[in-house]
Amino acid sequence: MTTHTSSALTSASQAREGNDPIFRLNGEARARAEAGESILDATMGALMDDEGQIAVMPSVAEAIARVPTGKAAGYSPISGSPPFLEAVRKDLLEHPDLLSKSVAVTTPGGSGAIYQAIKNFVEPGHQALTTDYYWGPYPVIAQHLERDVSTFPMFSSDLSFDLEAMKRGIRQHLDTQGRLLLILNFPCHNPTGYSLDSGEWMGIAEAVREAGKEAPVAVLLDLAYHRFGGESADLWIDALPKMLDTTTVLLAWTASKSFCQYGARIGSLVALHPDQEERNKLANALGFTCRATWSNSNHLGQLAVTDLLVDPELSKRADADRAELVELLRTRVEAFNRAAGAAGLDVPRYDGGFFVVVFTPDGEKTAAVMRDMGVYVIPLKGAVRVALCATPESEIPRLIAALRAGIDQAEAEQGDSP
Ligand SMILES: Cc1ncc(COP(=O)(O)O)c(C=O)c1O
Repeated sequence: MTTHTSSALTSASQAREGNDPIFRLNGEARARAEAGESILDATMGALMDDEGQIAVMPSVAEAIARVPTGKAAGYSPISGSPPFLEAVRKDLLEHPDLLSKSVAVTTPGGSGAIYQAIKNFVEPGHQALTTDYYWGPYPVIAQHLERDVSTFPMFSSDLSFDLEAMKRGIRQHLDTQGRLLLILNFPCHNPTGYSLDSGEWMGIAEAVREAGKEAPVAVLLDLAYHRFGGESADLWIDALPKMLDTTTVLLAWTASKSFCQYGARIGSLVALHPDQEERNKLANALGFTCRATWSNSNHLGQLAVTDLLVDPELSKRADADRAELVELLRTRVEAFNRAAGAAGLDVPRYDGGFFVVVFTPDGEKTAAVMRDMGVYVIPLKGAVRVALCATPESEIPRLIAALRAGIDQAEAEQGDSP
């Protein structure tokens, strides 16, 4: 028998958390359900129908089935399949003036797009800037890349976007780093469900344009949920021209949510800049990162999604399939808002998207009490995240009752502490 005296892993790799906390809680909820308990699992960002089955768009299943196997089996170009990239750019940027200022690469989902942005727009040892409520993998990706993320308070006391706090965060990054990558995940922010109104978008665009006059600035709009944004879905586009006066704008696009293809790992990073020479540099830098990490992306997925975006008849059906799902979610959001208001829960403005937060003095305590009642949500600092995308409408009363009980318990214990 051989004996190893110490781990061959690097010191940084020895203490890694191997699973994501959301996937871990989701696993626990599933195990209890399989053992026969009645469980409401509102942890995961995948849209489920009211029977608890993952929602699949028939048009997408058809598009995947009709990709010729010989074509799918071959490599796609390193930076991505050109028709796919053109289709994604057009999906995001209808206006020819914006379209002509963009380049793109394929990435494994939106996660790959975020990886690309942090790798190429944040210097080693520096930080990206985002809201204090954020999608957990942002700092995980950044730390893996030997960078990090710092935050600014997202909400003012009236629960609107805290523009002044964002400006202070920008100031600090410019002063200490001499550059900035700002990450914003609107519409349908994960975890809060908040969507910016047009005044908030314009305030942000102005602040970003001012910052770009002083130092190199890039703004990443993580658009993971933009197809579920209802009336505020497209407001971000109006902010682009002002931002582009002085900054590079990055758009993270993913088929995970807009085509319900979480498993396909198809996404894109679209980069906009007015200058052709800079666009060449951007395309080269992003292509280099593709080669150096995942290399070629999933060809089958790119071919199917291209068909879904470009074929007139299929894209019409995909839009209709998605509209049904948006409507399913809308009815849940309305039912949730009504019941949450009646139960006196403290929630931010929520008009669409997969998630919402409910504020509580103690997220961990609240989630633990709810788990005892068979209801799974994600604990955060000062809140819990509820995946309404995974909550059938009929279960909303149970969800609200568990939230109320969990928050009451957290408040009672808060009152007891010295
Ligand atoms: C805010 C946000 N950004 C990006 C993603 C990336 O998702 P994917 O890598 O599955 O496309 C997610 C997925 O949950 C998300 O919630």
